[in-house]
Amino acid sequence: MTRSLILDAPDERNRLDAMAQGVIGKPLDRPDGPAKTTGTALYAAEYAVDGCLEGVLVTATITRGEVTVLGEKAVRDMPGVIAVICDERMTARAAQGRAGESPVREVRRVQYYGQPIALVVAETFEQARDAAKQLRVEYREDEGALVEQHSRDAPVETYGNSVIQGNLDKAMSEAAHAVDVTYTTECHNSAPMEPHASIAQWDGEVLTLHSSLQMLRYNVKELADAVGLPPEKVHLISPYVGGGFGSKLGISPEGVAASVAAMELGRPVRVVMLRQQVFQCVMRRSETTQRMRLAADGEGRLIGFGHEALVSNLPAEDFGEPVTQASKFLYRGENRTIRIDLARLNLVTAGSVRAPGEAVGMQVLEAAMDELANEMGLDPVELRLRNIPERHPSKDIPYSSRKLAECLTLGAERFGWDGANRQPCQKREGEWWIGTGMASAARIHNLNEAEARVTLCADGTAIVASDMTDIGTGTYTVLGQIAGEMLGLDPKDVLVRLGDTSFPPGAGSGGSWGAASTGSAVFTACEGIRLKLAEKLGCAEEDLTLKDGFAVVGNRRVAFPDLLGGEAIEETGHFESGKVSDEFSAAMYGAFFCEVAVNAYTGETRVRRFGGTFGLGRVLNHKTATSQCMGGMVWGIGSALTEDEIFDKRDGHIVNPDLAEYHVPVNLDVPHLDVVLVEERDPAASPLQAKGVGELGICGAAGAIANAIYHACGVRVRSFPITPDKVMAELPEP
Ligand code: MOS
Repeated sequence: MTRSLILDAPDERNRLDAMAQGVIGKPLDRPDGPAKTTGTALYAAEYAVDGCLEGVLVTATITRGEVTVLGEKAVRDMPGVIAVICDERMTARAAQGRAGESPVREVRRVQYYGQPIALVVAETFEQARDAAKQLRVEYREDEGALVEQHSRDAPVETYGNSVIQGNLDKAMSEAAHAVDVTYTTECHNSAPMEPHASIAQWDGEVLTLHSSLQMLRYNVKELADAVGLPPEKVHLISPYVGGGFGSKLGISPEGVAASVAAMELGRPVRVVMLRQQVFQCVMRRSETTQRMRLAADGEGRLIGFGHEALVSNLPAEDFGEPVTQASKFLYRGENRTIRIDLARLNLVTAGSVRAPGEAVGMQVLEAAMDELANEMGLDPVELRLRNIPERHPSKDIPYSSRKLAECLTLGAERFGWDGANRQPCQKREGEWWIGTGMASAARIHNLNEAEARVTLCADGTAIVASDMTDIGTGTYTVLGQIAGEMLGLDPKDVLVRLGDTSFPPGAGSGGSWGAASTGSAVFTACEGIRLKLAEKLGCAEEDLTLKDGFAVVGNRRVAFPDLLGGEAIEETGHFESGKVSDEFSAAMYGAFFCEVAVNAYTGETRVRRFGGTFGLGRVLNHKTATSQCMGGMVWGIGSALTEDEIFDKRDGHIVNPDLAEYHVPVNLDVPHLDVVLVEERDPAASPLQAKGVGELGICGAAGAIANAIYHACGVRVRSFPITPDKVMAELPEP
């Protein structure tokens, strides 16, 4: 049976708190942990498939133009080579930006440097790689294509919904205090540890793809469309994913190429992207230019708020980095101008990377807020507290539960924040300037439709099944905890099966919606099972206590196997957000406090202390939620100091397409991260009263670091990442 829950109004029942098992929120270990740490968990490329051929992608080396693959014959004669495939389906650009889109088909036209144009298939990987290098390709590059891209002199269109309210120019001119500043951020790569990888098998009817994916419910349709099959003939398997960070939201080129090859050759084909290809042909986060205008009255209350951004993407891609997402709801300011312009550039597709929008939007907003606080000599914590609106500033709807003020206050206290002394260049230790900075955190709460099947087996254990993915986020763990809590079982007795499209379609992992959405589907299925158990016992469901594998009502206590009498109970839960999404502004909030040391001679920044206090609704597992927040803060350090995907202006290739040169923070870059989760229930967020977790920790984090750098040495760098060269250029006399 399918039982549906559509969230049309806040779910005030707080059912999880009323349950008896007491496992929700507990810092339980991951059930998938031992398999991952011992190497027995199979990732996409690791399946032993008999007779599997190896494919290597050949990618374009021009910015835009015509491509002809010439050397097919010569390459086919090389040892072990089976085929060179340059099917038109292969040159299709997999839609990376937004899940659910169909790929754009193009024949022999290349739209960016790095676009896949052919797949060389051989008996071994070495043979395929060698042949791929030898393949002769002729290009006719469009005149001026490269210059156009790098002058950023491209056609621009307005993206998404703008907010134009009141008169910002007037507010700016009448303000007691105002800042009008422009910041830039550079392209980012999602940089998952596991590169994009697929093994395709075709039995003449069904295409099976082992792949590393985040959103199976959409990916199955995307792949079916790309290869020309009905979706029911496509089977995706993705139980373990070595990080996605947005880059695996959509199917990627290697999966399509492997599928086309397997269907043509009648043999299984594996394609694993080289690390350079992950950079070159999966996707990037758009670079951004952001103008912030903040107008405040004498007390520091915002009367005007402007956030105008310029981002880019390929022609015909309809994703734009939603830079202003949190700016729409975070602070006051009745006169508002919030908009995004999208430039069309022939650079690798821009898509979702780790908290699309807020990651780079919040870091700039929070740096600009710091500039305003400095301008008026107000404690930046106090400036934020004075600007928390009562209602959504342009939609005039209420907020759902919002712990921003608590996070700011508690975070400041824990860190030992000194808001009175905000002049720069106050403290020196040897050759290091020491400073502190803070920022708010905010990330919109998203939900996605989800289904999950829960079976209470005759032996009294349970199985949860959904095509939901666990991309390292802890999905296996929290879904087991939700089912355990609702059904009165030790989570050890709940087997969670994920990442297979033969299971009901879960929410997928994206936009931090995974746990709250698929978790609500599990919750709903469990409610259905509870009803059936109550029926068997002849009591009302609310009077039923389930604990440790027993059903208890009044003075009766029956073990599940006895109650079930040899028959399992199976329920499929379906969850969807309803009217509640339009009636409340729901988001996760927090505050960052950090201390940095900036070298007075070299401009090198070291983050010495970093605290994050977050309100993200009910915590489903304290350990996995804390880890997620830490991960976000680590990305914040990268965004603040090092991450910068650099395109060569001579030919358009990415200069630093690997994890050595594109530097994501490593252990030495990261101090102890002090993460605090405040107690919260948000009935408007989900029936679990839980919100998103995964991306919150990045949203604003880099702003806190930028602000600390300014406080340390008086250098305000308005171009992220804040590399030593940029700081050094402005350093005071040491
Ligand atoms: Mo996320 S960057 O929406 O996977």
